[in-house]
Amino acid sequence: MTSKQTFYVTTPIYYPSNKLHIGHAYTTVAADALARYKRLSGFDVMFLTGTDEHGQKIQASAEQAGQEPLEFLQGIIDWIMQLWERLDISYDRFIRTTEIRHTVVVQALFERLIRQGDIYLSDYEGWYCTPCESFWLERELVDGKCPDCHREVEFTKEESYFFRMSKYVDQLLEFYEQHPDFIQPESRKQEMINNFIKPGLQDLCVSRTSFHWGIHVKSNPKHVVYVWLDALTNYITAIGYGSDKPEEQATFEQFWPANVHLVGKEIVRFHTIYWPIFLMALGLPLPHKVYAHGWLLMKDGKMSKSKGNVIDPNVLIERYGRDAIRYFLLRDVPFGQDGVFTPEALIERLNFDLANDLGNLVHRTVAMLHKFSGGVVPNPSEEAPSPLDEDLSNLARSTIHAVEEHLEKLEFSMALSAIWTLVRRANKYIDEAAPWALHRTGDEVRLHIVLHQMVEAIRVITILLQPFMTDFPRAVRAQFGWSDEAFAWAAAHDFALHSRGNTVVEAGPIFPRLDIKEEVEALTALTGGPLKEAPSDGEPKPTANRTASTEVVKETSGSANNAAVSSDIPGIATIGMDTFAAVELRVGEIVSAAKVEKADKLLQLQVHLGSEIRQVVSGIAKHFTPEALIGRKVIVVVNLKPVKLRGVESNGMILAASEGERLELVTVPSDMPNGSVVR
Ligand code: MSP
Repeated sequence: MTSKQTFYVTTPIYYPSNKLHIGHAYTTVAADALARYKRLSGFDVMFLTGTDEHGQKIQASAEQAGQEPLEFLQGIIDWIMQLWERLDISYDRFIRTTEIRHTVVVQALFERLIRQGDIYLSDYEGWYCTPCESFWLERELVDGKCPDCHREVEFTKEESYFFRMSKYVDQLLEFYEQHPDFIQPESRKQEMINNFIKPGLQDLCVSRTSFHWGIHVKSNPKHVVYVWLDALTNYITAIGYGSDKPEEQATFEQFWPANVHLVGKEIVRFHTIYWPIFLMALGLPLPHKVYAHGWLLMKDGKMSKSKGNVIDPNVLIERYGRDAIRYFLLRDVPFGQDGVFTPEALIERLNFDLANDLGNLVHRTVAMLHKFSGGVVPNPSEEAPSPLDEDLSNLARSTIHAVEEHLEKLEFSMALSAIWTLVRRANKYIDEAAPWALHRTGDEVRLHIVLHQMVEAIRVITILLQPFMTDFPRAVRAQFGWSDEAFAWAAAHDFALHSRGNTVVEAGPIFPRLDIKEEVEALTALTGGPLKEAPSDGEPKPTANRTASTEVVKETSGSANNAAVSSDIPGIATIGMDTFAAVELRVGEIVSAAKVEKADKLLQLQVHLGSEIRQVVSGIAKHFTPEALIGRKVIVVVNLKPVKLRGVESNGMILAASEGERLELVTVPSDMPNGSVVR
């Protein structure tokens, strides 16, 4: 029996009525990154994914294909498993709801719930949306259509079993209260309470008689179990709940309750209301967390087969490689928020982050090792490190903490951003330390230190990239010859002598630079014609007391202690020193910048403040491209209350001067250290 701590993570089980698209890959890649991270940091991980194979939609798709459901499903399941293999998804178990191990347990627990009085027989009258497999009340329809997918609904009346949800409402609310982290992000919890629980939780229809493709109720076989009770139960049947095999029962004991169910935001209701209630009725512990991430959208809205705007992940994997796709999915959109997929954004990420920053760092380091030290990592002398060396080594040592902190909160994008701060710092270190000049002047002692530092930085970066990418870390590790010990997750804490004496192999560029125009054209053609413009719903309006963005600070008010008197500038009141001193200003360096989706004016910046990296959202997108800001030294107001702009948190404000259309950043010379106090 292992004494390791366990971690159980799940994806939704996907409907195999069609092939999957990058939206499905998005959840699965995120779950994979989390599972890999937990394994690397010593946990015994169970990572579950699978397919939800019952219901009217699957039955109809099979009929349309002229096949028996299981025959129809097999082709798609093979395709899905192949996709996960191509994306290097490290799932431990794959559950199909048509498997015997699942169906017998669902049948048994259905009977138990009838016996307990939690499930009762009655008549159902209501509106049914076949694509969503959901019933709706008249009042819930929008323009007479399904409120989720906006398609036609059918009026249905049939005998059905119902689950007595109302019985458990108080218990559920109490659970929410005692487990404030159960629903993440936090905003989803209020949505569940206000939209579904407060208006009165309806008993849930849990069987159907109008189709037969499902798990038949043992004591009344004309009923099949309505999909959600069948589907949600996968999370326990897959790991041995109800099994008669002792080793399976032990697995269940070991891993249940799940640490996190990752789901798209449209199914958070099923996972945070119905699923906990089913578990309460079964007397089982509830999962620790349900994390609802946002949607990956196309310019014309949600991806759907009927709109013809879905992207087959295989197309992207074939063209750019799986690491590039995994990186893009986890980096481009902050997890939890919606994001729009555009070919431009993809190619820019691949060019800037992968080819220019990461690929180039490795490539130039290997080239210099060969040019200046025969392809062998030199043994650095024990000479005291320079401040430049220490700046790099300190950042490298602290990056693992930032990565872990973000990954614990499922902030994949922020974790990658922290790694990229180090990637960019390492590139800048090379420019500043200029090994070519040391070689020219024959300063071997310094040259060896610098080359060694470069390799150590790459080692730390490569270790930390393992949850996110799989080919790159494998290839670079082999190229630099790091031992198991040197490449352990915890070895990213050290910046020491792990690489000296290693022979480094020369190789071509790992991430090629792409021609943006050519690629956008090719992708547009491959993904079904030109994409429509995204509907714009306007920019955020400036608020009266402007708590963020780069608008120039104009203090116009005085408190009682700082009675306002007029200054020499007409219309501007003077303030006391106290008021000014309350504003904390620091020098910061912009280390990354990206556009905020659907906000023409906003940029999301990561600003290095010496002791930390802050995210600041700034209204300067009309004046600067993100690339033009990297490396700029700015003045940051660091003690403003955090605010959210377009759903993105801003923790400060950078100062700028403006005159008419013109806007310039307030800046200091580039050798002013990050974090310096500004008075
Ligand atoms: N079978 C149910 C889930 C049952 S879980 C017990 C289902 N299946 S699904 O095939 O429709 O998959 C939905 C999930 O796929 C979403 O919750 C999300 O995880 C993922 N996504 C599908 N499209 C997506 C986007 N466009 N963007 C992000 N995630 C998306 O619902």
